[in-house]
Amino acid sequence: LPTGEDLLSEIDRLRKEKNAIILAHYYQSAQIQDLADFVGDSLELSRKAAETDADVIAFCGVKFMADTAKILSPEKIVVLPDMDAGCSLEDSCPPEKFKAFREAHPDHIALTYINCSTEVKALSDIIVTSSSAETIISQIPEDQKIIFGPDRHLGSYMSRKFNRDMLLWPGVCIVHEAFSETELLKLKQQHPDAPIAAHPECPPTIVEHADYVGSTSGILQFAQTFEGDTLIVATEPHIIHQMEKALPEKTFIGAPGADGNCSCNICPYMALNTLEKLYACLRDLEPRIEIEEGLRLKAKQSLDRMLEMAS
Ligand code: 13P
Ligand code: SF4
Repeated sequence: LPTGEDLLSEIDRLRKEKNAIILAHYYQSAQIQDLADFVGDSLELSRKAAETDADVIAFCGVKFMADTAKILSPEKIVVLPDMDAGCSLEDSCPPEKFKAFREAHPDHIALTYINCSTEVKALSDIIVTSSSAETIISQIPEDQKIIFGPDRHLGSYMSRKFNRDMLLWPGVCIVHEAFSETELLKLKQQHPDAPIAAHPECPPTIVEHADYVGSTSGILQFAQTFEGDTLIVATEPHIIHQMEKALPEKTFIGAPGADGNCSCNICPYMALNTLEKLYACLRDLEPRIEIEEGLRLKAKQSLDRMLEMAS
């Protein structure tokens, strides 16, 4: 394997040779974000995957994101540097259990967070991301009953925001679940003027202290506009790379876990993708995402509804 600068130039050479686009989520390492063709939140990455005219999508994110790219762009080769890059929310929601839950509530529609398997997408009516959930819920008639899964914190946040009951699936993100309210309040005492921006996957004990709650792209926009010189960021800390690039004169502090620092809030699944694995997947065009066509078409319906309703 090439190393250092050679590795970066080899990735670049392979990207051109294979007519590949490298898509990356904000939770990837700074090096991966910097060499990607496009960095975005889950909704932006889905849109980009649907639009691109590249032959190959090298997806630097987690598996449900790469699956989404394949569902929307089936004619393209979609590679994921590490197939074990999963998500605790996806794991919390096995399709057969979700199916039984739906069947137990036949008068409810299933509004489902994009952080789930293709099978669960196929069992859902409308997919949402954290950046599109509000716009989409506001278009659903008030008397329509809703099942929301798999993230109960995003669901309960939306439920409070819209003052609307939803049946919540009991899944959580292990990364956002690990923030500590006690440590956050200690940090806030040290920086009383610093606002807190939080992702809605955080539990209510964190969200209630936030000045801004939104998706990764929403948090980045807030970082561009907040007044003051310090911001406390309650989401996966790799996003801070974009903030430091855009606003080098300001200070961004990752919200702490129980040990008082933000390193326990690194997403272990996202961290499986490395530059070396990205190089190898561009070289070999493996590991590849493959989805059975009948399943893909079913999952595409709920994703298409999201893309229509979110715009
Ligand atoms: P965003 O859609 O806000 O980028 O969130 C994706 C995610 O996995 C958050 O943990
Ligand atoms: Fe899943 Fe949480 Fe990692 Fe996002 S941060 S990919 S929700 S485990």
